Amino acid sequence: MNITMIGTGYVGLVTGACLAEFGHQVTCMDKDQEKISFLENGGIPIYEPGLDQLVAKNVSEGRLSFTADLGEAVSDAVAIFVAVGTPSSRRGDGYADLTYIYAAARELAEHLTGYTVVVDKSTVPVGTARQVARVIAETNPEADFDVVSNPEFLREGAAINDFMRPDRVVVGSESERATEVMKEVYDPLYLISTPVVTTNLETAELIKYAANAFLSVKISFINEMATICESVGADVIDLAKAVGLDGRIGSKFLHPGPGYGGSCFPKDTLALLRVAQEHGVAARIVEAGVEVNAAQKARMVKKIRDALGGSESGKTIAALGLTFKPETDDLREAPALTILPPLFEKGAKIRVHDPKGMPEASQLFPDYIYADTAYDACKGADAVVLFTEWNQYRALDLTRIKSLMKNPVFIDLRNVYDPQKLRNAGFTYHGVGRN
Ligand SMILES: NC(=O)c1ccc[n+]([C@@H]2O[C@H](COP(=O)([O-])OP(=O)(O)OC[C@H]3O[C@@H](n4cnc5c(N)ncnc54)[C@H](O)[C@@H]3O)[C@@H](O)[C@H]2O)c1
Repeated sequence: MNITMIGTGYVGLVTGACLAEFGHQVTCMDKDQEKISFLENGGIPIYEPGLDQLVAKNVSEGRLSFTADLGEAVSDAVAIFVAVGTPSSRRGDGYADLTYIYAAARELAEHLTGYTVVVDKSTVPVGTARQVARVIAETNPEADFDVVSNPEFLREGAAINDFMRPDRVVVGSESERATEVMKEVYDPLYLISTPVVTTNLETAELIKYAANAFLSVKISFINEMATICESVGADVIDLAKAVGLDGRIGSKFLHPGPGYGGSCFPKDTLALLRVAQEHGVAARIVEAGVEVNAAQKARMVKKIRDALGGSESGKTIAALGLTFKPETDDLREAPALTILPPLFEKGAKIRVHDPKGMPEASQLFPDYIYADTAYDACKGADAVVLFTEWNQYRALDLTRIKSLMKNPVFIDLRNVYDPQKLRNAGFTYHGVGRN
């Protein structure tokens, strides 16, 4: 089956490579010519475990190719996936910016020949699929097409496995013919009995927001519990374990930390609030989750300041990890990017290390010091702050770290280390929700 991917970012490239692995003939298109040239020359523009091998294999076997030419990409395609970005609007009002979606719809419309299924892979507010259909029909009244909503649930860092073995596939479709095409696209997943939820367009679009909102609320809930634990002398790790062992609740997403970030939860929760409000409905639980998350990040600033003796001015902070989670180079909305700047602005010197996030971070924060290793970052530090639980930070040589630091203060925002172990190693310990 000939498939085109419009937008070759985190989702487009992974989806394209995985669909090629399913046996389809996939062309990944992006308007970013530099990115396409890089891919054509064997480069992978993002860090995602296993993606380099998967792309190389499917390119060499002739099932995956790249282009910046939309006409070339779209001709012969039976299904055109739209996987362009839907960031928060630059106006700062929380609405999803759908500029890229509608631009892609207008651009692809001109090239449609024969029956084509246009698949919304991007996360979009309810009603967008119908608007995409309107834009295509207005641009090319002759076009024979259906629009389908097929939200993506992959997690960065585990994206290939998530795509190949998803918990479910959601297809919003109002056309039998389009649904049949989607069945063919995902045929290998039907063979492994993946649950497929076929529903109308609005429901499919809302499912994605509801799933992300639920997970982000779960994080905010445990972060709120962590704050209560700190106040009453309880331990959130034991609490989360016991609560999570209840099968109705589950242990996943019950890890307290510096607040959620990433390319999805922050923007999707806000976009869901706007959808609800625009329809005259309150989404108070989601609203509270968003507020708790912002407060959690601010609380981490205070936690670090307090650990530094009440003032960060003139102090050196060693930050371990910048990305919003391990195994990705994605810095979008990473908690470290919200928590470090106010400390820097009030006179702290910031030394950082991250296995994959430093090239982009150094563009965003040129005044921070970028260290080659975690140990180098800790040199002369008044406090070390663990922001991201990369595996390489899980077994640090604590004696060596202590010997490099000016003051042995360890602020473990991911609760990776046993507090007693850190104290035994001579550190002053600060975790999240533990005393
Ligand atoms: N990143 C994730 O983990 C994830 C997971 C699930 C869903 N999503 C959703 O998937 C969508 C894409 O996210 P992403 O993280 O891959 O974004 P991204 O920013 O990494 O990639 C988007 C790509 O689209 C390209 N693009 C924009 N307009 C274009 C156009 N008109 N023609 C061709 N290319 C165009 C950009 O150049 C960019 O390369 C978003 O809606 C996001 O919410 C993301």
